[in-house]
Amino acid sequence: MAEVSLRGVRKSYGATEIIHGVSCDIADGELVVVVGPSGCGKSTLLRLVAGLEEISAGEIAIGGKVVNAVEPKDRDIAMVFQNYALYPHMTVRDNMAYGLKIRGLPRAEIEARVKRAAGILQLDAMLDRKPRQLSGGQRQRVAMGRAIVRDPRVFLFDEPLSNLDAQLRVQMRVEIKRLQQSLGTTSIYVTHDQVEAMTLADRLVVMHSGIAEQIGPPLELYERPATVFVAGFIGSPAMNLLPAAAAESGIALGDGTLLALSANGGGVVAGRPLTLGIRPEHLAAGGDGAALRVTVELAEMLGADTVIHGRLGDGSLLQARLPGAARARAGEILPLAVDPRLIHLFDRETGRRI
Ligand SMILES: Nc1ncnc2c1ncn2[C@@H]1O[C@H](COP(=O)(O)OP(=O)(O)O)[C@@H](O)[C@H]1O
Ligand SMILES: [Mg+2]
Repeated sequence: MAEVSLRGVRKSYGATEIIHGVSCDIADGELVVVVGPSGCGKSTLLRLVAGLEEISAGEIAIGGKVVNAVEPKDRDIAMVFQNYALYPHMTVRDNMAYGLKIRGLPRAEIEARVKRAAGILQLDAMLDRKPRQLSGGQRQRVAMGRAIVRDPRVFLFDEPLSNLDAQLRVQMRVEIKRLQQSLGTTSIYVTHDQVEAMTLADRLVVMHSGIAEQIGPPLELYERPATVFVAGFIGSPAMNLLPAAAAESGIALGDGTLLALSANGGGVVAGRPLTLGIRPEHLAAGGDGAALRVTVELAEMLGADTVIHGRLGDGSLLQARLPGAARARAGEILPLAVDPRLIHLFDRETGRRI
């Protein structure tokens, strides 16, 4: 068993604390994706788990054993980096075998492991090539192969697909998911790309400035974001976040619109400043009950749907994602309906969900 457990993990460089106490239990075989904007501490967290950096406080356990003082090479972990870090002068075979040679594994065992990994990754025909004779996607696969041959208890991935073009990224994403499921190896995967995160993860850890803002399955975070930050970060196009205030009979928006939202407004004192969140895909065009009136600025036709960019009366920006080729001209006023069951309310000061 190789569950990974972080308890109150902190990391400081000098007087500056970068990771402010992260706790998370990762089950055996689970794929947890750590997602957040650049600079929030994702790589640092991964390097702490790998043992490449020492933690300043807290505890990291792998397979039930605290590894705070265990050397990286003895943690039985394999890491895949963004820049592949392949040896340019070595063949694919030697790149994959190198780590095992260093560990002194018998030759036959090394050969068997490399062969197996090459088979899984469809690299059989490329074993004698040098990295420069490979495409970006193939190099990425060699980097994965090097991790697989180690047969580690835990995989750590640090933005492994960032150097690939968009199409290849989607393809490799599917491959990594399939591979992780078939190997069943506990994995921590770091990315700043929320779509990658949503599609790969069994569970997500959304990081923000060195804090784990919310941990949960992708859909749970999409449906019930705990904070304004998570609400705005998960989902594309991003959730509309509008200044609002609790009123006697509903929620008042900045432009004076009153939304009758008894279910969500329950227990909120009138006058309390709020942030109201509504996802672009949860707005619907027109109808008599339409609550919002949006002045259209731009309509992006994507084929399957249309993203309308517009403003409410008070100047707040609003995006709506409507199915098909929605007709909307710049300057036109578009009535949009809001399903009260699909709105999110946050305290404006704390940013926490109500
Ligand atoms: N060795 C270091 N010394 C000082 N500060 C560092 C060091 N490594 C990372 N940091 C800082 O820690 C923060 C988080 O960095 P990092 O974990 O690389 O973020 P991410 O991977 O999410 O983009 C950044 O502000 C970065 O400048
Ligand atoms: Mg990073």
